[in-house]
Amino acid sequence: MVEVLVTGGAGFIGSNFVRYALGAHPDWRVTTLDKLTYAGRRENLLDVITHPRHAFVHGDIADAAVSGPLVERAELVVHFAAETHVDRSILAAGDFIRTDVEGTFVLLEAARRAARLRRFVQISTDEVYGSVTSGASRETDELKPRNPYAASKAGADRLAYSYWATYSLPVVITRASNNYGPYQFPEKVIPLFVTNAIDDIPVPLYGDGRHTRDWLHVNDHCQAIDLLIEKATDGEVYNIGGGNEVMNVDLTKRILSSLGKPASLVNPVPDRPGHDRRYCLDTSKLRTLGWMPQVPFEGGLRETIDWYRHNEWWWRPVKEADPAFRSYYQAQYERRT
Ligand code: NAD
Ligand code: TYD
Repeated sequence: MVEVLVTGGAGFIGSNFVRYALGAHPDWRVTTLDKLTYAGRRENLLDVITHPRHAFVHGDIADAAVSGPLVERAELVVHFAAETHVDRSILAAGDFIRTDVEGTFVLLEAARRAARLRRFVQISTDEVYGSVTSGASRETDELKPRNPYAASKAGADRLAYSYWATYSLPVVITRASNNYGPYQFPEKVIPLFVTNAIDDIPVPLYGDGRHTRDWLHVNDHCQAIDLLIEKATDGEVYNIGGGNEVMNVDLTKRILSSLGKPASLVNPVPDRPGHDRRYCLDTSKLRTLGWMPQVPFEGGLRETIDWYRHNEWWWRPVKEADPAFRSYYQAQYERRT
């Protein structure tokens, strides 16, 4: 059995990856390590929590007593755990430094003692490149993060690289574009707008709405990580992008029309400070290894919207009954509206 440690496996991408990995690799035994912050939910793993090849550990990656022994016995580490929401990093950045930078440091130190380790996948992000004025970001481009989330991820990205360069740790760094799909916490734009629109609540579109993101279906992301575990070269960075560059205003229109809701639900609100105008990835390096995104954006978005329509059990308790979410929503949006 291959011992696999997935950090942040109760979050959006991590839970999709755990589910994918258990299905795709009958010889993998997966341990999820997750702190269960506001974004990490056992519900995300409901169908695999008692799977015979899956174990769940509730703990903080930055707590060496908990994360150290798990890393030390792993053959593969896929490190998703992070604070991930740009708007929250603008409100308060401390947790981003503690988890994304210090937490990654704790895992990397433990990885130096992991005798059987053959891959440490550092899940970074396209946001480390900063706003892209023209063309597409390549792995060799300068990093110009412009918000505390992106900066903390850039710190972790380069720290992981340094452990390859210095200690020959088998590190691979991935920089993916914006993901969409089921189980995404309803603070991010797609689940927020879909669930607001279902309830006829206005959707707060930042600034002129002409910012673009390159959307990647979470299943395509999981397949890319899987491929990189086997085929990547140690110490290298790989962009993972869906090739679906969409302006926020167009994304919003598609969501509303898919739900049969009027355009009058769009509520233009003051922009996010330091809002990156555009992200766009050149994915030729990954494609030479044989990866191609499989999910067309049109169909993937429709299915994702349907998932939120059919799984109100999953998001209503967060949006309606979680006082922490309500106070975040107020702090984030009431001053804007
Ligand atoms: P998420 O916020 O949905 O999940 C993060 C998970 O990490 C949660 O389960 C949370 O409980 C856990 N976590 C947070 N702090 C922790 C700690 N100290 N110890 C243990 N667990 C902790 O995030 P996501 O969208 O699934 O993103 C996963 C990773 O992918 C992140 O590293 C993020 O930077 C990266 N990424 C995300 C996107 C995207 O579009 N969502 C794009 C590119 C890269
Ligand atoms: P988000 O999902 O927060 O991801 P990121 O900031 O990591 O790209 O936001 C995606 C885009 O949607 C981004 O350009 C900001 C915009 N946005 C809004 O217009 N309104 C919102 O309420 C949110 C959360 C995001």
